Amino acid sequence: MRILVLNGPNINLLGSREISIYGSHTYKELLDLLQNYAKDNNLIIDEVQSNHEGVLIDTLQKSVANYDGIIFNPAAYTHTSIALYDTLKAISLPCVEVHISDVDNREDFRKVNYIRGACVASVSNLGIKGYIEAIEILRGKKKW
Ligand code: DQA
Repeated sequence: MRILVLNGPNINLLGSREISIYGSHTYKELLDLLQNYAKDNNLIIDEVQSNHEGVLIDTLQKSVANYDGIIFNPAAYTHTSIALYDTLKAISLPCVEVHISDVDNREDFRKVNYIRGACVASVSNLGIKGYIEAIEILRGKKKW
């Protein structure tokens, strides 16, 4: 199984950005966690992070031929991007949405979520372990 883990703006700053909300694990630690899980479970996990909406769209469009599913933390684009929703709807790959924080119980503007409706499941408030939870849901190992 090949999985694309796609991260949106500012996720590369994990470990230094708002530690009380996103925790102290660094982005590099997230990548290591994913690669160790991939190795232990005989999976291929590729990771792309971008601060640019168009790059995220291009990456999703190209992923159709190369992956069985997507784990996506669209970060702030969750709350703004109909374009990313349209892309997820256009491609025929299952996507699990991930948020590190308790996104549904923060500021009101974060309650708007354009992405969830195009995803098979959603994981939030588990820190970086939420990415593993999302992969297990995608693999059918855990129920949502
Ligand atoms: C986030 C939540 C978003 O609201 C925020 O804009 C992010 C990160 C999360 O992982 O909790 O950048 O997606």
